[in-house]
Amino acid sequence: MKTYKIFGIATAVIGILTVFTLGSCSTEQVTAYKNKSGAQLWGENCIRCHNTPSPAAYNDTDWTTIEMHMRIRANLSKEQSEKVFDFIRSAN
Ligand code: HEC
Repeated sequence: MKTYKIFGIATAVIGILTVFTLGSCSTEQVTAYKNKSGAQLWGENCIRCHNTPSPAAYNDTDWTTIEMHMRIRANLSKEQSEKVFDFIRSAN
């Protein structure tokens, strides 16, 4: 019986620590992500699956269509996606 009690307490402590650790970690990451420029997000996300095509490779209309597809593939929020593609459209 005593052993079970210790297990219960240990599990609770680990649980609480996990929540704190994950909580602080994700907040930092979200803040870091928010402060990133479109160019940074572009460099970090768009090369995960393929080389990043030059902004000059497509016109603004094409980039807007590509945004709809790649935003989902790259799992970017609306805000992040706007930063990336505003940067691309400003650079072509
Ligand atoms: C999870 C993988 C993945 C990520 C991340 C990704 N792409 Fe793609 N991308 C693809 C695949 C697969 C294709 C080809 C098939 C398609 O068009 O769906 C492609 C095609 C493209 C094309 C060519 C479209 C065409 O029809 O000529 C462009 C341009 C492009 N991606 C830009 C981007 C940009 C910019 C980002 C960053 C926001 C990005 N991709 C992120 C997987 C990805």
